[in-house]
Amino acid sequence: MAKKEVKFTAEEANIKHIGFIMDGNGRWAKKRAMPREYGHKFGADVFEKIMDYCCHMGIAAQTFYVFSTENWKRPKKEVDSIMRLLDNYLDDCERRLKKNDVRFIFLGDKSVFPESMRKKMIDIENNSASYKYIVNLALNYGGRDEIVMAVNKLAAEGKTNLTEQDISSALYTNESPELDLIVRTGGDMRISNFLLWQSAYAELYFTDVLWPDFKPSDVDAAVENYMNRKRRFGGV
Ligand code: IPE
Ligand code: IPE
Ligand code: MG
Repeated sequence: MAKKEVKFTAEEANIKHIGFIMDGNGRWAKKRAMPREYGHKFGADVFEKIMDYCCHMGIAAQTFYVFSTENWKRPKKEVDSIMRLLDNYLDDCERRLKKNDVRFIFLGDKSVFPESMRKKMIDIENNSASYKYIVNLALNYGGRDEIVMAVNKLAAEGKTNLTEQDISSALYTNESPELDLIVRTGGDMRISNFLLWQSAYAELYFTDVLWPDFKPSDVDAAVENYMNRKRRFGGV
């Protein structure tokens, strides 16, 4: 996509890392009298389109909240269908890798997934490791869980007197630049355990648009809003 096909480039917007809380799939399906799973399926296609658009903008890192450590509480039928979608996406992933020069990184404890899925995730990470744009997929991810994991990892290495840098380097996102903006669809104004450490000075943008309805023009609206913010980082 040529520059004129995106409203703002990442450089113009001064944005290196954007996070998406992709919420509202269930309500979107319900409005159509369809099962929640239908919303997840549609949402997966939207994810693909938004990821493409952000790559065209030239955003160095994108993080998508796909499945939280708390989402296992959902009915088995829904969890199973999300896992099936995910597994299918992993199969498709390798084929899509080169398309956008996307480097996939999975955030979260992979050990809970079946061996076959875990292997696909590791292969995808390895095979895309040299690509340009980072796409973090937060899967079985929780911000608190991540901080606990990082601290335990540092403790196991015998590190004491931990610094902020030590912790940042031990998080799943250690390859990504500082988080600039979180966009949450679906109308709820909360973080729901997403990127807790990383969001310390991120800008937050909430929209009522349900994830399956989310479009590149909605990314533009979020980014335009972000561009009008004054980020002070505690200064004046
Ligand atoms: C987000 O949509 C997808 C996941 C959390 C897996 P929801 O499934 O939470 O949709 P709503 O919020 O119930 O509409
Ligand atoms: C957040 O959405 C998790 C993902 C988008 C993966 P939820 O639907 O799980 O969040 P809550 O339950 O409304 O806080
Ligand atoms: Mg939800």
